[in-house]
This record gives sequence, C-alpha cells and structure tokens, in this order.
Amino acid sequence: MRTDPLFQPVMSEARSTRTVSLTFNEQPLQVPAGSSVAAALLMSGIQRFRATPVSEAPRAPYCMMGVCFECLVEIDGVPNRQSCLIEVREGMRIRSQEGARDLMFQPATVQSVEVLS
Ligand code: FES
Repeated sequence: MRTDPLFQPVMSEARSTRTVSLTFNEQPLQVPAGSSVAAALLMSGIQRFRATPVSEAPRAPYCMMGVCFECLVEIDGVPNRQSCLIEVREGMRIRSQEGARDLMFQPATVQSVEVLS
C-alpha cells in the first residue's frame, strides 16, 4: 500500500534557491520562485484555498492542471484566479476566496420585444 504523499513538488521547484515574498490572507510567506501559486501555498502548509458558496466547505487544489477549479483564490484584488496555472511573483497579495463572487460582465438590457402575429 502506498503511504508517501501524493503531492510532490517538481524537481526544478524543489531545487530552486531563489524565493519571492508574497502574502496569503495577510500572512507573509517566502516561496520558491518559478512555482505555481497553488504549489507555493501547499508547500507553505496552506490547506484551505476557498470556501464553497452554499455550505462554506473548505476546498484546496485537486488536479493541479486547470481542470477542477478547486484552487480558486483572489490575487491582487482579482477573484476567481486558478492558482495552479499562475506563477508566483514578488509582492503578490493572495486571499482565500470566500463564497460566491460577483460576475464581471453586465448583461445587455432588452430594449424592446416585438410580438409577431
Ligand atoms: S487545482 Fe484543479 S484547476 Fe487548479
């Protein structure tokens, strides 16, 4: 039976000596440069990335390849960012995503409706 952790950083991340500074929910972190935001947060011990809109259940990355959307966070004030697809940058301000977010688009208004008879 396999007992070692399934999450393993790729070798380039594990060997990186450069780090960048960022914050997660105002907590300062030093993470390896070149890693994804999701990998960096997981390596820093963060286990709760967001909460579901309905039950507020905690969520964390699952696929690490842009498919499941479980890794959504707010980055520099922009919500709904897939943290597994974004590389860390110096000074990033990351926040957990709590509940539902407003949609960014404005639906077109209906000007008039003609009824054909
Ligand atoms: S972990 Fe699945 S989309 Fe990011």
